[in-house]
Amino acid sequence: MSIQNVLRMGHPILQQLARPVRDASAPEIQQLIHDLRDTMRAHHGAGLAAPQIGQSVQVVIYGTGAPNPRYPEAPTIAETILMNPSLEPIGTETESGWEGCLSVPGLRGEVRRWKRLRIQALDSRGQELERVLEGFEARVVQHECDHLNGILFPQKLTSNQRFGYIEELITSGQIPAVPG
Ligand code: NI
Repeated sequence: MSIQNVLRMGHPILQQLARPVRDASAPEIQQLIHDLRDTMRAHHGAGLAAPQIGQSVQVVIYGTGAPNPRYPEAPTIAETILMNPSLEPIGTETESGWEGCLSVPGLRGEVRRWKRLRIQALDSRGQELERVLEGFEARVVQHECDHLNGILFPQKLTSNQRFGYIEELITSGQIPAVPG
């Protein structure tokens, strides 16, 4: 287990389509899950996708089961691992919200996401997982799954003007104060 370097926007791996997992029980996949967990927790991420630590494979992790200091107003989410995820919106309702990303440090931007969706994936043991999500958890999953398609949140802004450095956005009252 070890904390990995997080690639930043501009690194080509972040722009690639990630390959599917073929064997969830393979030692390298289980090691990848440990590395994702350690790295997400070390950086207080809401989630982390494998390409962000340099592995172009369809694995994401999100949630820690504890409040997140980078998103103080967000609900607590249990740790969840998704492999080969597919997302299907439920209904047509969307909502906009501010997002950050460990690959885009210091910045936040407003992104419109599906409010409710159904996800299908494999869990950390390769078992089929299906869930209906909404709100912040649905947002996190859409953000992380975008990473598997080579997409970072600045490519999906509601407006080029709804994007900036965290300190400036807090000072101007556009987002609530974020400690750390
Ligand atoms: Ni991200």
